[in-house]
Amino acid sequence: MSRDAIVAADRSHVWHPYAAMDEYAATDPLVVARAEGAWLHDVDGRAYLDGNASWWTSVLGHRHPRLVAALTRQLGELDHCALAGATHAPAAELAEALLARSPGMTRIFYVDDGSTAVEAAIKLSVQHAAQTGRPGRHKLVSLSEAFHGDTVGAASVSGVEVFRRPFERILFERIRVDVPTRDEGWERAFAQLSDVVSRDADSIAAVVLEPVVQGAAGMRVHPPELLREARRVTREHDVTLILDEVFTGYGRTGTFWASEHAGVTGDIVCTAKGFSGGMLPMGGVLTDDRIFDAFRGPRERAFYYGHSFTGNPLGAAVGREVLRVFDDERVLDGIPARAALIRETFERLGRRDGVAAWRAIGMVGALDLDGGSGYLSRGGWRVYDEARRRGAYLRPLGDVVYVTPSINIPLSDLARLLAIVEESVDAAWVG
Ligand SMILES: Cc1ncc(COP(=O)(O)O)c(C=O)c1O
Repeated sequence: MSRDAIVAADRSHVWHPYAAMDEYAATDPLVVARAEGAWLHDVDGRAYLDGNASWWTSVLGHRHPRLVAALTRQLGELDHCALAGATHAPAAELAEALLARSPGMTRIFYVDDGSTAVEAAIKLSVQHAAQTGRPGRHKLVSLSEAFHGDTVGAASVSGVEVFRRPFERILFERIRVDVPTRDEGWERAFAQLSDVVSRDADSIAAVVLEPVVQGAAGMRVHPPELLREARRVTREHDVTLILDEVFTGYGRTGTFWASEHAGVTGDIVCTAKGFSGGMLPMGGVLTDDRIFDAFRGPRERAFYYGHSFTGNPLGAAVGREVLRVFDDERVLDGIPARAALIRETFERLGRRDGVAAWRAIGMVGALDLDGGSGYLSRGGWRVYDEARRRGAYLRPLGDVVYVTPSINIPLSDLARLLAIVEESVDAAWVG
């Protein structure tokens, strides 16, 4: 199919995610033909550094040879088999390997992606409360600007207003705790979280939060004390704490789980994206025994939930190999040098006219453009256009320009990506 034919078919029939389709129709889309490592290649042979690791999934780079081999091997043996009353080596081995590096967690419930991880976690927390003699506990507490996915339960605990608004009338009851978008005001947030949980514990099933970094909110970095406070107060009132590590897990912030920065563990942990190295849609909900034990016993206590592809062997085989690559290639050990480059660049960018604020943690660097107005702001898209001309894919979050490359990106590719970010910000905004 020629480029023109692809674009014509796309324009006529494909409804794109998170896109104002009239605006999209007026753009000249990137038409990607293949990918390798940190690079996307378009149909005309141009290469682009993947600045966000394809929506934060491709943590080990595209088509890592070991992941390709694991997938191919698995395809030669077992494509799919429902995990209903049956099991297979990939699901069992992945469970053992992932739980071994997840302190306190003893079980994994497989799901399809980040949204369904959060959806299942919410249901688990509500059913857990009911089956431990507290049926009145059904409300959920979450943070302002949070993003936990797009299914109804996940959207209910999300806070980005432009995503919530159309569905407001059908969302579940949640209690919002306001967190600051800049560095001050944290004491107020700690106090509100503590007050809310202490006051309403009898009606709360769970507190849900993204540990240390709120991704879709614009890469907002939180002090680890917030997570420690959440752990303290939920433990005091025996409320379930759900940590959504869909974005932050698998090394994104420098540690395997972001919650390690705070030295705490959740009762339930949601994971996806890097979980399958960005190769297949798959995720998991990790729980401790306190949660699992409430579902044991008579049949009516079971968790009646599952997807057709729950624990699918292809995804699980890749997920198992992802963990081996983390170990064999000492992926986490390579982060400090890369994180330092990201930090230096964004710190420098933070001093530019036109840049209101910057932040960096691990393999995340972000800046707010001056005069922005949130997710619908066009500022970041000007930087996107400039970066694309220079050979990088840099989809913004409104007025927030950020990088979240694969966490093992070769240093030379990272240096090139960061140089493009600097040039593009200058050209789009200041220049
Ligand atoms: C923290 C967090 N949770 C959940 C999700 C939803 O994941 P998915 O897009 O795989 O459904 C996302 C997606 O960006 C996320 O960042």
